[in-house]
Amino acid sequence: MAEARVVVLISGRGSNLKALIEDSRSADAGYRVVGVVTDRNDAVGTAVAEAAGVPVTVVPRQMFPSRAAFEAVLNDAVDGFGPDWIVLAGFMRVLSPEAVHRFEMRAFNIHPSLLPKYPGLDTHARALAAGDRVHGASVHLVIPALDQGPVLAQVEIPVCEGDSAGALAERLLSREHELLCACVRLLASGRVEIQPLQLSFDATNRHGPFLLNANNQLV
Ligand code: GRF
Repeated sequence: MAEARVVVLISGRGSNLKALIEDSRSADAGYRVVGVVTDRNDAVGTAVAEAAGVPVTVVPRQMFPSRAAFEAVLNDAVDGFGPDWIVLAGFMRVLSPEAVHRFEMRAFNIHPSLLPKYPGLDTHARALAAGDRVHGASVHLVIPALDQGPVLAQVEIPVCEGDSAGALAERLLSREHELLCACVRLLASGRVEIQPLQLSFDATNRHGPFLLNANNQLV
């Protein structure tokens, strides 16, 4: 089977992007990061892509008179790379309904909470404030609503005594990387069927999201 073409959208640091690029170099990954699109010309992740020889298209929001004009160019940039899958990894914008329609259920987002808990920002602080004993991250299908859409898979980590939001975020980040790589491998394998409001998984006949185990397998 040909390698799946993956385009990654970022707005910042790009650590998830870096993890994907590194993972994609394994012979059995089944995918390749063919392009990066960012809405910010100061995104640190741009350098990550360039160092790896992955082409980057910068579409700065402030260059456009309207959201619609910005999105038209952004969506063309994504499509220009011919993606099979589109991964939002720290991309700080909600895709428009037009973009979601155009990308035909091929866009996934990684979010640092156990959705449906804590869509939006400050997820780690909110988990601590709620007294949660377990925190985590989710990979979900993108729909035109912030951090909603069916969850493909999650990873959980314990909340430790005395955790700060920063410590929790840092501990979660490496597990996010593993979750995202496992999910992109799964998508690239063609074993997930995607319908507008539901994901179904071959043979397993499951209806809930996968969970990443300690061996980085989706179970
Ligand atoms: C991650 O925590 C991701 O879950 C969230 O934004 C952060 C991006 O980090 N959506 P990075 O840019 O991949 O380092």
